[in-house]
Amino acid sequence: ATSPVEVSLTVNGVARPCTVEPRVTLLDALRERLGLTGTKKGCDRGECGACTVLVDGRRIKSCLTLAVMQQGKEITTVEGLARGDRLHPVQAAFVREDGLQCGFCTPGQIMSAVALIGEGHTRSDDEIREWMSGNLCRCSCYPNIVAAVREAAKEMS
Ligand code: FES
Ligand code: FES
Repeated sequence: ATSPVEVSLTVNGVARPCTVEPRVTLLDALRERLGLTGTKKGCDRGECGACTVLVDGRRIKSCLTLAVMQQGKEITTVEGLARGDRLHPVQAAFVREDGLQCGFCTPGQIMSAVALIGEGHTRSDDEIREWMSGNLCRCSCYPNIVAAVREAAKEMS
């Protein structure tokens, strides 16, 4: 094993220094070192999207990147979206449109949705489906997820 190193992560606007082995993924650092368990581990190999977070505003699968590579960047997790008691419009839309069943994929779906709305990829349901295709849902809530993204995009425009 390699010796642990100090990394200084910025998560949801707060500096969160932690000590990790260089091989530790951003996903494991968030969940196991920083206690931010909203970000889910589905496949741990880039296939399901449950671990999606934003890094400098762009979505990445946090199981595919190392914590040490994300120093100095702004990381946003699902815990960072709400403002006090007020849900982020994308979170509220998922609730309203019933965009979840078991909820396991939901944080990743929501983080992806926030990014793709920001990128303007919501001009049609087909476009939403295409840009959300990296986020799998074992409960097959896809129609409701698309509706939630569409409605949130409208509200945020
Ligand atoms: Fe990262 Fe599945 S846990 S893509
Ligand atoms: Fe169950 Fe998507 S709501 S995996």
